[in-house]
Amino acid sequence: MRALTLNEVPSAPAVAEVDAPTPGAGELLVKVAASSVNGFDLSVTSGRLEGMMEHRFPLVLGMDFAGTVEAVGEGVDGFAAGEAVFGVAMKPFLGGGALAEYVTVSAGYGVAHIPAGLDVKDASALGLAGTAAANSVEAAAPQKGETVLVSGATGGVGALAVQLAAARGARVIATARPGTEADFVTGLTDADVTVVDYSADLDAQVRAVAPEGIDVVLHLAGDASQLVGLLREGGRIASTLGLTQETVKTGGVTVHPIMADPNPKTLTTLAALAADGELRVPVTATFSLEQAPEAFAAFRTGTLGKITVTCP
Ligand SMILES: NC(=O)c1ccc[n+]([C@@H]2O[C@H](COP(=O)([O-])OP(=O)(O)OC[C@H]3O[C@@H](n4cnc5c(N)ncnc54)[C@H](OP(=O)(O)O)[C@@H]3O)[C@@H](O)[C@H]2O)c1
Repeated sequence: MRALTLNEVPSAPAVAEVDAPTPGAGELLVKVAASSVNGFDLSVTSGRLEGMMEHRFPLVLGMDFAGTVEAVGEGVDGFAAGEAVFGVAMKPFLGGGALAEYVTVSAGYGVAHIPAGLDVKDASALGLAGTAAANSVEAAAPQKGETVLVSGATGGVGALAVQLAAARGARVIATARPGTEADFVTGLTDADVTVVDYSADLDAQVRAVAPEGIDVVLHLAGDASQLVGLLREGGRIASTLGLTQETVKTGGVTVHPIMADPNPKTLTTLAALAADGELRVPVTATFSLEQAPEAFAAFRTGTLGKITVTCP
């Protein structure tokens, strides 16, 4: 099969011919229709995860997938060949990724059915980013009327988190540079979103909107200590970037470190919201599998929202 691969790290990924995987007990073989690019994939190519996880070469990249069940392994319940599924290819090693024509995934974790009304390309952009967004919003739990600053609102996680926070009735402040980025963020939801330019004086802009301090920060980009400084006493910060309670010196602030947990319940909830039109999946660019290296290059330069990669 064709796949986006690495033969060593760090190195530039290339599309190559590799053996297709076969499903083991409890696994699904998925014929991938689309995948999407995440920061995690770039971390793998950069060699940053060496020594932290086993790397199996040729290493097939890619976490997110959407497609059709091609075959099921022994003992699989709840899925059958021909069904449309999506999710995150979670494995205890790096190498069996989803930027490929086929991927094997555990039937019990990281996969859910694609409901009617959800486009397969949108489904492929929802797994990791959607889960990270949902987990962040649930952990910090903004209440109706509270103020939430989404730092990194222009990215895949942020664009979904803005919508999930607004849907809870929170007042959303979102980071974006003026122009296209700001328009993208305000176009995500019908709710009012206040845009602040992170490349200018962020503190002044946020204080102008919330002089009493903000209730919740979703830390998806930017300087954590600056963001913590914008919280009111008793505020909460959810971080996908490794911030922990121990590293925050300011008292009276609760830190929620987020490790995305793509369990079937969360994936199913996200898919239902997207299928019902209550969550817009922010796909802004699509490449073919043969062009996947270009998709990575585009992601690196800061494309808005999600970049998807479609398979033949
Ligand atoms: N812990 C987990 O389980 C988990 C799961 C998913 C993602 N993550 C991490 O969470 C982060 C967000 O993920 P993502 O997929 O949304 O990444 P992304 O698509 O790269 O988005 C990051 C966004 O942040 C913006 N940005 C850069 N510097 C900023 C600043 N100082 N203030 C505000 N915004 C800034 C970028 O805009 P420009 O393009 O203008 O630079 C970009 O739009 C990534 O670091 C990712 O690796 C962690």
